[in-house]
Amino acid sequence: MTPSSTFSLSNVSKVYSNGTVALQDLNLAVNDGQFVSLLGPSGCGKSTVLRIVAGLGHMSSGQLSWSHQANRRMAFVFQEAALMPWATVQNNVRLPLKLSGMGKAASNAAVAEALEMVDLTGFESSYPRELSGGMKMRVSIARALVTKPEVLLMDEPFGALDEMTRSKLNSDLLNLWQQKQWTVVFVTHNIYEAVYLSNRVIVMAARPGRVVADVPIDAPYPRTEDFRTSAMFNHYCRDISARLSQAASHHLQDNASSVRSPNVVDSLV
Ligand SMILES: Nc1ncnc2c1ncn2[C@@H]1O[C@H](COP(=O)(O)OP(=O)(O)OP(=O)(O)O)[C@@H](O)[C@H]1O
Ligand SMILES: [Mg+2]
Repeated sequence: MTPSSTFSLSNVSKVYSNGTVALQDLNLAVNDGQFVSLLGPSGCGKSTVLRIVAGLGHMSSGQLSWSHQANRRMAFVFQEAALMPWATVQNNVRLPLKLSGMGKAASNAAVAEALEMVDLTGFESSYPRELSGGMKMRVSIARALVTKPEVLLMDEPFGALDEMTRSKLNSDLLNLWQQKQWTVVFVTHNIYEAVYLSNRVIVMAARPGRVVADVPIDAPYPRTEDFRTSAMFNHYCRDISARLSQAASHHLQDNASSVRSPNVVDSLV
């Protein structure tokens, strides 16, 4: 744990009750204001890491340390928007404030501000069934932002969206992150998304879940569309893809007798 770390995980292992070793000796320190992606194949423990950081799941051994109370101001965005179908956009976004006991009048300004951040002003009275997939995800993000978090934990928030919507939401998220200076931990299967967004990509491998590479993405922000087609972007994507292949091939060698080993790289992107 360094002075600028928001949180750190030290030698964290997680064994589920059925004996699955989801994480083994995982070390990860995330610094204030970083945008860190966790990238890896299905089952490598990305969600398990995020749940432990959020306090939604226990570790079997190891330690999670927080600096300066940052854990009090944390929000989680799940893969599914998970909105209440019977409630308007405004009331969906208001939910965390309502649960914390804040009255309607007191929460109105925060709800309006969160909706403005995700570009949904004007849709306050709409119901989820009236929104596109991308708009539903914006509501879900607004519901996280309404609590004014310092740390944003996002578990494949754009995984179910089409490519164009994903690109747009990636750009909007980056703009907000630059303005608000949150610390973001972002889970994804998508190498391109991870490189575009992050200043650090943590590459994980499965069985047991562990960190195999910590790749700084030294490209300046704001990241424009030109960055997506640049030689530098291509270089990072190739490098990370090679690291994933390498980790997968070690795994396949280690488990040569297992017929259940997936082709990890094919399942990415
Ligand atoms: N509640 C649970 N009980 C038993 N095993 C679990 C449980 N949750 C996860 N696992 C197992 O732990 C491992 C890590 O799961 P986790 O959900 O963290 O992976 P992931 O990297 O998020 O995968 P995905 O990309 O598919 O979401 C997997 O082998 C999974 O089957
Ligand atoms: Mg997951």
